[in-house]
Amino acid sequence: MRLGRRQFLSGALALGATQLAPIPRRAGAQPRFAASPFTLGVASGYPLPSGVVLWTRLAPAPLQPGGGMSPEVVPVEWEVASDDRMGQVVQRGTATATPEWAHSVHVEVEGLEPGRWYWYRFRAGGQVSVVGRTRTAPAGNAAVDRLRFAFASCQQYEQGYYGAYHRLLADDLDLVVFLGDYIYESSWGRDHVRKHGAPEPHTLDDYRIRHALYKTDPDLQAAHQACPWIFTWDDHEVANDYADDRSQFAHPREWFLLRRAAAYRAYYEHMPLRRQMVPMGSQMRLYHRVGFGTLVQFHMLDDRQFRSHQPCVGAGRGGSAVTDAEACSERLDPRLTMLGEVQDRWLESGLDRSAARWNVIGQQTLMAQLDSKPGAGQRFWTDGWDGYPAARRRLLDYLGARKPANPVVIGGDVHMFWVTDLKPDFDDARSPVVASEIVGTSISSQNGRKQEDVDAIVADNAHVRFGNPTRRGYVRVEVTPQRLRADLRAMRSVTQPRAEADTLASFVVEDGRAGAVRA
Ligand SMILES: [Fe+2]
Repeated sequence: MRLGRRQFLSGALALGATQLAPIPRRAGAQPRFAASPFTLGVASGYPLPSGVVLWTRLAPAPLQPGGGMSPEVVPVEWEVASDDRMGQVVQRGTATATPEWAHSVHVEVEGLEPGRWYWYRFRAGGQVSVVGRTRTAPAGNAAVDRLRFAFASCQQYEQGYYGAYHRLLADDLDLVVFLGDYIYESSWGRDHVRKHGAPEPHTLDDYRIRHALYKTDPDLQAAHQACPWIFTWDDHEVANDYADDRSQFAHPREWFLLRRAAAYRAYYEHMPLRRQMVPMGSQMRLYHRVGFGTLVQFHMLDDRQFRSHQPCVGAGRGGSAVTDAEACSERLDPRLTMLGEVQDRWLESGLDRSAARWNVIGQQTLMAQLDSKPGAGQRFWTDGWDGYPAARRRLLDYLGARKPANPVVIGGDVHMFWVTDLKPDFDDARSPVVASEIVGTSISSQNGRKQEDVDAIVADNAHVRFGNPTRRGYVRVEVTPQRLRADLRAMRSVTQPRAEADTLASFVVEDGRAGAVRA
């Protein structure tokens, strides 16, 4: 979807409703904060060999509009050190926190050394932040013998504590990859352990407060403080099951795009994102590549913003459906796209050019076909790639024909663990396995499915190697030149803070052999 000039301007004007802030009365004037403005912690992201993005947001009263800040421009000092006590400062500078961007700070540090750890902190108004730890990526041509990362998704705040983040602190990670549903717009599910305390967000202020609420969680803050993160989003950062410009209730398009613009802007303000990701009205370029030497190339996709509307929903509605295959021929329309043409080409050319041993494709949902009707006949859910089978086939045919090194797809969204073999034709036993897929469960979001029902689905889908809906958690991954190992980490509880985690199962992909095998 391309925004017309008119839609873009109306989005931009709506966002420009905040007045330009007055400049500080004296050069270098600083407000004095009675309480710490660093209530949302610090974060870093998108490591390069030469630098990384540092983030914080000034919000002495995070759940108030404006975060409790007066509408002034505030200088924020930052420093980066080569030691955890901040003794050897290697770079420092002053960023500007403005009310237009909710006093968020995004610093793109340059000129650092590749492949090493750094520490950083911020200072403003007589207050100092905690010290965060981050690292740069190895040089592009560097041989790297190991990378450890975790991937996570789906953290409905009301449904559980983020003990999974407390547990992953012990995993000695280089990176966290977040695959969507960082916030939830809606209140749902049972057995809430805490409350949003506000209705569904629609405006920029609403989304800022929702992000701030999620960011107040101490375990989430600690995980951001521990290492850099990279991201994609899914639907709940805006609204359930949206597709491009269409909401699940098929709201008027202009109205929905204004809502999306507010949500994207608040998202940018709360994440350690690169300058090239700054939203323009209702558009935001989030898909991105991050490389770790010659070992791993991450291709992070956005399958929400550019996708075709889901097929086979009733007239006057949007969103997804669960449909028997024979009842929905529209699903097979070759014009349906998941990534949009521009991103399709970007992904293919990036895979073609990648010199990495492993190509990790990070995206929001389950890519494998999943027939949820045991026995004869097939039934599909149209919000995942099963709503876009021709687009999926094009991508998997591409992987089969061009053979980029070791493609591994990671996903989230469905609040359960899945491990699958990706094949151009899932209904043909002879169709080759062209990529491995591992889908992580949710950090806290619920799944009502029973294991016995999932077992029946696994038995009916030959390319599915594992499925478990019963536990919350994350996936810990260790990559070496020889193999990729994924430990499915499952929390014993999310209604108890900081419960223990178990490894539910481990899977290994050997170099040159697609398909994850149970370790
Ligand atoms: Fe979710």
